[in-house]
Amino acid sequence: MGQKDREKWTAADHLQPAISKSDSLLAPAKECELNLDGSRDRLLACSASEFHLTATKGQKIMQRALVLGGGGFVGRYVCEHLQRQGWRTIVPTRQYAAGKHLLSLPSLQLVEADVMAPGELERLLPGCHAVINLIAVLHGSEKTFARVHVEWPRQVAQACTQAGVRRLIHVSALGADSGGPSRYQRSKAEGEAVLRAAATAGLLDLTVLRPSVIFGREDRFMNLFARLQKFLLVMPLSGADARLQPVWVRDVGQAIARALDDDATIGQTYEACGPDVFTLGELVRLAGCWAGVRGGRGRPVIGLPMGIGKLQALVMELISSKPLMSRDNLDSLRVDNIAGGQLPGLAALGVTPAPLGGVVPLYLGDAGFAARFNEMRRRAGR
Ligand SMILES: NC(=O)c1ccc[n+]([C@@H]2O[C@H](COP(=O)([O-])OP(=O)(O)OC[C@H]3O[C@@H](n4cnc5c(N)ncnc54)[C@H](OP(=O)(O)O)[C@@H]3O)[C@@H](O)[C@H]2O)c1
Repeated sequence: MGQKDREKWTAADHLQPAISKSDSLLAPAKECELNLDGSRDRLLACSASEFHLTATKGQKIMQRALVLGGGGFVGRYVCEHLQRQGWRTIVPTRQYAAGKHLLSLPSLQLVEADVMAPGELERLLPGCHAVINLIAVLHGSEKTFARVHVEWPRQVAQACTQAGVRRLIHVSALGADSGGPSRYQRSKAEGEAVLRAAATAGLLDLTVLRPSVIFGREDRFMNLFARLQKFLLVMPLSGADARLQPVWVRDVGQAIARALDDDATIGQTYEACGPDVFTLGELVRLAGCWAGVRGGRGRPVIGLPMGIGKLQALVMELISSKPLMSRDNLDSLRVDNIAGGQLPGLAALGVTPAPLGGVVPLYLGDAGFAARFNEMRRRAGR
């Protein structure tokens, strides 16, 4: 049964309050009412499409997806698209207040939980039909990358298996490669391998997405390049020649939601890239221009040798746990981050990616409402 055929739930069904840490997340009465051959175990064991098929015609269908890391940048767009497709979402976050922007989505339950703590994931999974894993870190020690990108997917696979939740969408990253130059890329590849092994063993229905660098109103990428140019006279930059294929966050969110609803994506890995390739230097220049720096000309970009860039990154790492650019980030830039062409892309998921130039000026533009709003949000620490 396709999305069009799916029944929409009524407004009253949307009025679920956000639940607290102590609340049980067991399947609510409405789901238990579904006549799915009688048992809740059967419900938990079936894939998304089986769930549609086993529901009796005329009954309400409210599938639930647990969106791990849904409080982050990409998460809100995933949840938005899932809502449009008729899913309910549960988003655990370690800081409830930081996830408040999600509360405008009526089909979403925001839960304060540290999912990596013992028993927390197991508490959240019952009643869910699918899991989307967006949890990742961009900086950290070897140990942190191993914990978040490798051990965590293993933990998710085990907990899903125990709870009978087969469907998993895992968001990795373009350039994930066990022989890649950075810890980020290597650990992302290792995490994918862990999940593929579980899928090959018949425990999971897995789809992997590998996005390129993602832009969007709340990004920490084009916004950062623009902001820096407001107070620096020149932009010193290492890895300026590295090529990237930025993709819009809405397109990534839509691709993830589409993949979830299409069982033909099971077993596949998709590259999520935008339509155009830029060097990092070009992107920095464009950010300055679109933000109206120096009358729309941006600051001059001065290429730095990798050695000096590493030194600069080391200083940033010493003064902040979330540096603007870490040595590991620089290592990622040693190789181009563009579609390899061997794997299906967004088109295979029915998504036509938006060009960078059609979106970024709208939120970086000095005079734009979005830019002023962004600035207010930034100052308020949101
Ligand atoms: N943004 C990009 O340019 C980009 C590019 C390529 C791939 N990706 C991939 O896309 C996915 C989503 O990225 P994003 O930009 O949305 O990331 P994000 O904004 O940093 O969000 C990641 C989320 O992960 C959670 N998280 C991180 N460490 C955790 C930990 N130790 N325990 C529990 N939760 C933890 C955080 O949840 P809390 O709410 O609890 O803080 C956070 O909301 C990631 O897999 C990322 O690698 C992103």
